[in-house]
Amino acid sequence: MNNQEGSFYPEENPDYSTEYIGSLLSDTSDLKNYDLPHELITLSDPIIQTARSQAREILRSVIEYKELMMMYKCAIKEVRTKLEILDTEFEIRYKRNPINFIDSRLKTTSSIIEKMKRKNIPFSIRNIEEYINDVAGVRVICSYTDDIYRIADALIQQDDIRLIEKKDYITHPKPNGYRSLHLLISVPVFFAEHKKHVKVEVQIRTIAMDSWASLEHQLRYKQWVAERPEIAEQLKECADLLSEVDSRMLGIRMMIEENSSDPTEEEIMLEKLSRIDRPIE
Ligand code: GTP
Ligand code: MG
Repeated sequence: MNNQEGSFYPEENPDYSTEYIGSLLSDTSDLKNYDLPHELITLSDPIIQTARSQAREILRSVIEYKELMMMYKCAIKEVRTKLEILDTEFEIRYKRNPINFIDSRLKTTSSIIEKMKRKNIPFSIRNIEEYINDVAGVRVICSYTDDIYRIADALIQQDDIRLIEKKDYITHPKPNGYRSLHLLISVPVFFAEHKKHVKVEVQIRTIAMDSWASLEHQLRYKQWVAERPEIAEQLKECADLLSEVDSRMLGIRMMIEENSSDPTEEEIMLEKLSRIDRPIE
């Protein structure tokens, strides 16, 4: 499949080299599916011509879709890097890491299709970009509740980040007890010849909020659970208990901080230096 006469791709698409398509499709390794025999490709029968043109259209859509997913992957990398930098900076400034860990995922094709079906949105590249806000998802697990807002504010303040929507399910938990801070942001991704703002959904929560959400998510899949209000009540109680634990842990940390004697200016500088001197991971 190169650009020679009679190949699957005519000269009008010089960019679509085998290597290029191969790299886009490498994760599914279905390139061979498009490798039609030379005799078939060069036939001038109108049916074959139509089939060829339809196949070209399908392949074009596949490429467009894969390119879009690649952009979301890059946007995830950008946001992760920003968060890692913030964590390192906080570590130097406050002598502790506000971020426990960062998790990220690219929504699967089947999940995108399922969501669009559920929301009655016709499947198209445009519609994915317009209506599916969580194709790129980043989850930030913080140590304490105040870290959540510090990290969120520091991220939103960055001048290349656009905040599209903020949902504070910590100040206003969901009726089932779900707590988390959700940011829908867009981040510029720079490519060789163009720049594009790509949406990323960032969920920021504490370890306790995360453990509740993970378990609740697993339990929700059991069909009969939805019909048992006492289970929902118990889950809500657990969420409230965990929230209480979060408040108390924050209280303990603050008490320790208040009672620690203030270091001298020299000590602060030496401490900072020792942290900065550490190799970057
Ligand atoms: P969608 O269009 O379905 O994404 O709805 P939305 O954007 O209005 O939802 P929202 O911002 O409230 O939630 C988006 C994501 O947060 C979900 O995909 C989950 O990952 C998480 N989430 C929201 N509510 C719950 C909940 O009750 N339990 C758990 N475990 N996760 C939740
Ligand atoms: Mg959403």
